[in-house]
Amino acid sequence: MSPTRQALRFDILTLFPGVFEPFLHESILGIAQQKGLVGYHLHDIRDYSQDKHHKVDDRPYGGGQGMVMRCEPVFRCCEAVRAQDERTGRLILLTPQGRRLDQAMALDLSRSDRILLLCGHYEGFDERIRIGLGAEEVSIGDYVLSGGEAAAMVIVDAIVRLLPGVLGHEDSAQEDSFVQGLLEHPQYTRPAEFRGVKVPEVLLSGNHAEIKKWREEQARNRTRSRRADLLENENAATEIPDG
Ligand code: 6GU
Repeated sequence: MSPTRQALRFDILTLFPGVFEPFLHESILGIAQQKGLVGYHLHDIRDYSQDKHHKVDDRPYGGGQGMVMRCEPVFRCCEAVRAQDERTGRLILLTPQGRRLDQAMALDLSRSDRILLLCGHYEGFDERIRIGLGAEEVSIGDYVLSGGEAAAMVIVDAIVRLLPGVLGHEDSAQEDSFVQGLLEHPQYTRPAEFRGVKVPEVLLSGNHAEIKKWREEQARNRTRSRRADLLENENAATEIPDG
C-alpha cells in the first residue's frame, strides 16, 4: 500500500515494559507491525541505573509525599536508546502537565519517522530531566494516572491507526469522530430489526446521496447535543493525507 515509506519506529522507555507486550501485539497495532509499517522497541529504564540496587526513584528534596524519578537512569536510558537509530525522532515525556493530545496532534505525530515515549511513575520526574532532555510534554486529558504507561498506549494507538496502509479501508480513519471536527454518525449492521428497534429506512434505501445527507445531519445533531464545544473550532482538525 505504501511500500516506499519506512516503518515508523517507536521507542518506549518505561519501568514496566511488560504491560505493553499484549497491547502492542494484538489487533490493529500488531497487524501494523506484521505489515512492516511500524516497529515497537521497549526499554526498561531500570536497566540503565548504575546504583547498586538499580534504584530509579528517590525522595523529593524539601520533603513531601511520594518518590521522584532520578536523573541518572533516565538520561542514560534516553541517550542509549537514541543512539540505536540514526533518526533523531521526537521525544515525548508523558505527564499530566503536558499539552493535551487531540486528533490533530496524533496526525502530526503520525508523519514523523521515529517517536520516543518516556513514561514516568511515582510523583514525577526530577525537573532536570524535563529541562535537559528537551522533550515535548504531552498529557492525554485532565485527570491523573498513576503512571505514563496507559497514556503511552493511548498515543501509540491514536498514531498507528492513522498510518497509511494500517486500516483495511484507506478512508476509514477519515470518517472517524473528530477528524472532520464532528462526532461520528450512528452505525447499524444486520439484522434490520432487533428487539423491535428498526434500522433507519434511509440506510436500507441504497440511495447514497440520501445516506450521506442523513449521516452528516446525524453527526451534526449529535455533536451539537453532546459536544457543542467542537462546533466552535470546526475544521480545526486537519485532513488525512492520501498516503
Ligand atoms: Cl501523560 N501521565 C499521567 N501520569 N497522568 C496523566 C497523563 C499522563 N495524562 C493525563 N493524566
